[in-house]
Formats: sequence, structure tokens, C-alpha cells
Amino acid sequence: MSVSLAQSQTKESLSVPFIDLKQQFENLKPELDKALSPVFQDASFILGPAVKSFEANFAKYVGTKHCVSLHSGTAALHLALIAMGIGPGDEVITVPNTFVATVEGIAFAGATAKLVEVDPKTYNLDVKELDKAYTSKTKAIIPVHLYGQCANMSEIMAWANAKGVQVLEDACQAHGAKDKGKNAGTFGVASCFSFYPGKNLGAAGEGGAVCTNDDAIAEQVRLLRDHGSRKKYVHEIVGHNFRLDSLQAAVLGVKLPYLDEWNEQRRKHAASYTQKLAGVEGLVLPHVPEGSEPVFHLYIVQVADSQVRQKVQDYLNSKNVSTGIHYPIPVHLQEAFNNLGYSKGDFEISESLAERVLSLPMFPELTEAQINHVVQSLKEALK
Ligand SMILES: Cc1ncc(COP(=O)(O)O)c(C=O)c1O
Repeated sequence: MSVSLAQSQTKESLSVPFIDLKQQFENLKPELDKALSPVFQDASFILGPAVKSFEANFAKYVGTKHCVSLHSGTAALHLALIAMGIGPGDEVITVPNTFVATVEGIAFAGATAKLVEVDPKTYNLDVKELDKAYTSKTKAIIPVHLYGQCANMSEIMAWANAKGVQVLEDACQAHGAKDKGKNAGTFGVASCFSFYPGKNLGAAGEGGAVCTNDDAIAEQVRLLRDHGSRKKYVHEIVGHNFRLDSLQAAVLGVKLPYLDEWNEQRRKHAASYTQKLAGVEGLVLPHVPEGSEPVFHLYIVQVADSQVRQKVQDYLNSKNVSTGIHYPIPVHLQEAFNNLGYSKGDFEISESLAERVLSLPMFPELTEAQINHVVQSLKEALK
């Protein structure tokens, strides 16, 4: 009996999904049922008590006065910029090494994105590059806390304050991350979060939020998300429908108290990968600067080039290890952003990262046996 159990565990551990959301929802099922029932019973599907309660709790978690929940992180970027007064004729600086939504937010606000290169070690915005992109039209910067690690916020804030430029943090991958003891989402005038299912705090569908201490920005985002209306059928400005569903807010409300514990598990898994992969030839491991406390939304390694990466991915696949690439095409080389006027060679570090990065399985429920299997398979693949 014990032998067959051990065998089945070994077999199970040999399969490593990139992320396992089913397990998390299974573990939380009783709590979720309890939280979702009142939404159905009261038919409070739109901006009901679950939304208000989640907003209050998430604002407290992040450490901002306001959290305005929205339909997605993309909507958060879009509406935050408008609420900050950014629009046509304005320029917003961000990075090419990000998920496309960062730049979509700028485009939907009617502004123009100006891209700057990232730091080759942290993969986040390189402060030294900011002067190159600055013009009299620069109104904001969006640093992205990529993979769950804060950009160099003290230096970015110092630069922005000196220039009188607003900072909007793209914290969509960084719920709970810190830089020198300060929470992601509390550095700039506002910050954007995504609750896409695979995020460190994920809904059972779409979700996002703007967090801010600025009353006027919060109020404007609240108006914009709900048809420009404070009172039913009275519309003060042209808005949109970007509200978070109460059902999603209820799910997020159940999950939020677990976020720190899940982030801690992610950090533990990251430390385990780093320790076990240290010194492996042909691999670059994540760099964590002094004072940074990342939450490892993703654990990224770099290999030599895209051909090696394809071979490594194929080999890992054959060993039932799923991996990802975040992201294979930098924003400046996306057809959608041809109008920005960039071309190949403009951001060599971002382009090189796009060819080399590989995301290993990362989720709180990952087991040590699964990590060992990933590590062993990766070592074999690189031989
Ligand atoms: C860095 C970054 N910005 C913005 C977004 C957009 O969030 P959403 O998918 O909720 O619209 C994401 C999510 O994928 C992201 O990773």
C-alpha cells in the first residue's frame, strides 16, 4: 500500500504545469462558496458590498488611501492616465520589455509612448536612459515592476520629481512586492494592478484596480469606470463600463488574506531554484538588487539564444515540464506599435532578452519534488 502511494506521488511529481490554478480553487472551495452565495442571494452583481469591501481591504494591503476596482489591469492603465490629465499631445515614457497592455494604456489615453531601454540585470527600466526620452511634452513615466520585482523606484522618483513628471506604476505583476521596505503601488501618484487569473492575486476571470492617495484621481477613475456617473442616469463626463463584477470581488476578497503566504511560498521556490541552478553553465538566473523584495510572479532564466531556448523548451516539454516566454516580441517590434517609429536594433537589451528568457513553473503550491524535476530536466537539456 505504502509503496503504491509512493509510486503515484513520484509519478505525479514528474508532471509540472506552468501554473496550477485548479489546485488553489479546490483548496478554497468552501470559503468561495460562502463568499459567492450572498452575491447571488442579494443579486448585488454590480458594485455591490463585495466590491466595496474588497476595495477597502486591497487599499489597506497596498497602503494607499483609495483602491478603485476595475475590469482589468489594462483598463486601470488607461483610466489612471486619463485621470492624471494625460491625453493627446502628451508623451509617456515606459519600456519595450513589458506586456503590451502598458503601452496600450498610453495609446488608449490618446498619448504617445516614448520607450527607454531596460537594465540588463533587473530587466526593469534603466534610470540612466530617461534623459534620452525626455522632451517638453513628457508628462508621465510608467515603470513596470516586471516579474514581481520593483523597478528602481527611489531613483525613478528622484528623476521624475526633478523634472516635474508624474509616475504611474504598472504593478500588475507585483502585488505585495517591496523596494527598500516600501510597497509596490505606493511610490507614484497612482498604481495599476491586474487580477488576471494567473497573477499572484488572481480572480476567476478578469479584474484590475487603480490604487492612489490622490482623491481627485480616485474620483475621476470611479466616474470613468461607470459611465461618468455618480447618480443613476446622470452623466457628468463621457465614461465607459470598466467595473469589476461583484462575483470577482468576492473571489478576490477570499484570496487576499492568503496573498502574503502565497508570495512567501513563491519566494521560497525561487530561492530553491536559484540554489539548485547556481553555477549551471549557459544559464543566467534572476538578479535581486539589495533592498528589493520581489514576489516572483515569474521565475525567469536566460539561455544563450532563441535556438537553444527552443531546444530546452522542447526537452522540458518531453519531461512534462511546462514553461513560458515573457515576452517573445518586445513592444517596439510589435506591428500594433509600428506608428511609434522604432525599429530592430533600437533597444538591443530588450531584444536580446526576448530571444533568451524562459519562464520556469512558478506557483505557490509547487512542491520540492516538482522543483527538483524541473532543475534536473533543465540541467539535462543544457548538457
Ligand atoms: C505588466 C502588465 N501590465 C498590464 C497588464 C494588463 O492586465 P490585464 O490582463 O488585467 O488587463 C498585465 C497583465 O497581463 C501585465 O502583466
